[in-house]
Amino acid sequence: MTSPIAAIILAAGKGTRMKSDTHKVLHPIAGRSMLLHLIDSVKALGAAREVVVVGAGRAQVEAAVHPLGAETVEQAEQLGTGHAVRMAEDALAGFVGDVLILYGDVPLVTPETMRRMIDALHGPGDPSVVVLGFRPADPGAYGRVIVGADGRLEKIVEYKDASAEERAVTLCNSGLMAVRSADLFRLLARLRNDNAAGEYYLTDIVQLAAEDGRFSVGIETDAIEVAGVNSRGELAGLEFEWQQRRRARAMVEGATLVAPETVWFAHDTQIGRDVTIEPHVVFGPGVTVADQVVIHAFSHLEGATIAGGVSVGPYARLRPGAVLERGSRVGNFVEIKNAVLGEGAKANHLTYLGDAQIGAGANIGAGVITCNYDGFFKYKSSIGTGAFVGSNSALVAPVSIGDGAIVAAGSVITRDVEAGALALARGTQEAKPGWATRFREKMLARKAKK
Ligand code: UD1
Ligand code: CA
Repeated sequence: MTSPIAAIILAAGKGTRMKSDTHKVLHPIAGRSMLLHLIDSVKALGAAREVVVVGAGRAQVEAAVHPLGAETVEQAEQLGTGHAVRMAEDALAGFVGDVLILYGDVPLVTPETMRRMIDALHGPGDPSVVVLGFRPADPGAYGRVIVGADGRLEKIVEYKDASAEERAVTLCNSGLMAVRSADLFRLLARLRNDNAAGEYYLTDIVQLAAEDGRFSVGIETDAIEVAGVNSRGELAGLEFEWQQRRRARAMVEGATLVAPETVWFAHDTQIGRDVTIEPHVVFGPGVTVADQVVIHAFSHLEGATIAGGVSVGPYARLRPGAVLERGSRVGNFVEIKNAVLGEGAKANHLTYLGDAQIGAGANIGAGVITCNYDGFFKYKSSIGTGAFVGSNSALVAPVSIGDGAIVAAGSVITRDVEAGALALARGTQEAKPGWATRFREKMLARKAKK
């Protein structure tokens, strides 16, 4: 039988090194804040409760997490990690189960690793505390995990408090732990702050449990999974790591990435099978790509839904609400916003389609613009099935072009066009035979006299 899980996520620290008006944990990776990545993973694990410990910038954090159903508790003064976890005691009164302690600025911990921690908590001998350790290239100032001769944890010693011998230990504390609710708050109540930092160290619960004759275990993971973010440089480092993982997954799932290191995904990008993504493609949030799609180089997509067999770009810009139906084609320097491009329809060159409905098989010529905005309101354009809109036409919305209609190149269309009609709305061409020849002769003669 599995116990319910509650996650306590520490996020009370200021994060001054970010030099930002935005709370550190709200800075995004792949278009989603670090804290929400973590909450997503906790939810994927199946946690029953998420309690975020907030302090500095509290209102911002609350606004971000409350919509997801996470709770918040305040730590008014930052007196240490142990003190921070204690702040969740009242919120978790009556909760009986496993508690996972996470850091809001350590966002890439996977549900699998969280599961390993919980499983270890229910491993042989029912350990009191499970500590997630790692071995960084440079152990720096991390707390060191001290393992006894019997393989059980003796204690975690903070760098500031460690002896030279302890500092030589390479197993570091990520800060993440799993503890049963029944043990956690009982141990926390006994923390003291008589240490080098004058803080209530969460890590001291390992030694307190040992004093009670209980034991703790450590499990290990890769340094990158438990990397924290304290600066913009570290944020960029984790963004890179996240992208690397996502690129690998896209390829495993059957997409060809010609130059994977140049493709940037969002947290929620969905890619089908046999999709080819050429170099330098950027996915903003909300993009779904079905099978057999080609996205050519230098395209930027956000909030777009792309059906099977579609071709996009190069240099295409798809904005929120762009829906490309089966087999449609969007070419270079085409921008599409809140518009449906029907099955097999084409907009191959230099076009803006905004707030529009384009029928199946329609052809949108080079340079066509839907004029959807009058400076105050937005209006819709509708283009019928099989219609042909000639190059460099402006469709002044609201306007509708009927099925099979043809709009002559260079037209400015201000009134609806009937199905099957030709609409021609441009200056009439005049012809003056011989005029150019006479003009040239006259001007050459004038120039010769000077
Ligand atoms: C802590 C660990 C250390 C570990 C390191 C990993 C303790 C005593 N030490 O170090 O062993 O190697 O993490 O990065 O636990 N926070 C609060 N309230 C507080 C203090 C911290 O919410 O009063 C939050 C911070 O916002 C941050 C996290 O807890 O998200 C860790 O705090 P930080 O000061 O970075 O940890 P250290 O004490 O340096
Ligand atoms: Ca830290």
